[in-house]
Amino acid sequence: MNEQLINNVILGDAIDVMKKVSDNSVDMTFADPPFNLGKKYNHYKDKKELDEYVDWCKLWLKEMVRITKPTGSIFVHNIPRWLTYYAAYLNEIAYFRHWIAWNAMGAPLGKTLLPNHYGILWYTKEINDFKFYDIRGQHPRCRKCKFIIQDYGGKKDQINPFGPLISDVWTDIHRIRHKKRRDEHPCQLPVPLLERLILMTTDEGDIVLDPFIGTGTTAIAAKRLGRKYIAIDIDPKYVQITKEKITKTQPTKINGCFVSKYLEKVVTIRQKDWEELEKAAKIPEQIKEVEFTPIGLGKSEIKNSKPTKLTPPISDFY
Ligand SMILES: C[S@@+](CC[C@H](N)C(=O)[O-])C[C@H]1O[C@@H](n2cnc3c(N)ncnc32)[C@H](O)[C@@H]1O
Repeated sequence: MNEQLINNVILGDAIDVMKKVSDNSVDMTFADPPFNLGKKYNHYKDKKELDEYVDWCKLWLKEMVRITKPTGSIFVHNIPRWLTYYAAYLNEIAYFRHWIAWNAMGAPLGKTLLPNHYGILWYTKEINDFKFYDIRGQHPRCRKCKFIIQDYGGKKDQINPFGPLISDVWTDIHRIRHKKRRDEHPCQLPVPLLERLILMTTDEGDIVLDPFIGTGTTAIAAKRLGRKYIAIDIDPKYVQITKEKITKTQPTKINGCFVSKYLEKVVTIRQKDWEELEKAAKIPEQIKEVEFTPIGLGKSEIKNSKPTKLTPPISDFY
């Protein structure tokens, strides 16, 4: 591995830079390429002929597979239309694991069969022996009454207090809607989306590479979770924004475990960390109460509690 690339944000063409990365040397590759929809990027024309676009995509997909370790994972985010072309190609050079449907929650207005999900293709280099960790997300709850939406019927005593193991449909992570939380970029992804993929398929210290970093989402997620990153973009302005954001990024840990947090709420954890993490949560004595009580503490209770040994304080769960 070319050590100079590690923990670096590189200005350059995705394919040219990936060619400098050794075979089988990266633990996870994630790509969120231009969608060829005529989006207004700062430095790049997002409109190619269909064949030209697909041929170009095959070149960087091939590089991603080449540099990924045998134990590693390859993820590609796009709209379903382009993912069908990617999957047809990737099926020849890697192993299909899942098509994750990310329902980014657009308003159901406008037209029927409104495109309302993005896809994330997950491939591995090997059919077996790839890294994978079970992941839990928070229980989906009614916004007003906080009741768990899923009906557990007679199995309420088996509910995990934090939340269920995730499926391949993700509805709990939203696109960045507020201008104040966005950079000047037309399609910035939310950090918790990348954190979930990273927690699922890598370990602390592993290397994550993103050939189209934009304003830094994947690199920030990697640093928050104690992983290394290699970030590439062709646009000097996005490279600059990414570098500035990374210097301000700190690891996110509770009781020694890396977790994904958004707006002070824990969004994703690893199943294997639950035993340690639950020491930091206030869980109702009757497990059935979790159905209508999100775990954690209310603000008045935090004042009276003494969570001094926990890092950061137990309020992080509510
Ligand atoms: C969909 S955006 C990625 C957004 C990113 N996931 C984020 O959350 O900010 C695609 C990015 O690819 C970059 N790009 C376009 N062509 C490129 C190329 N040939 N090599 C490297 N980056 C390129 C664009 O500048 C843009 O920032």
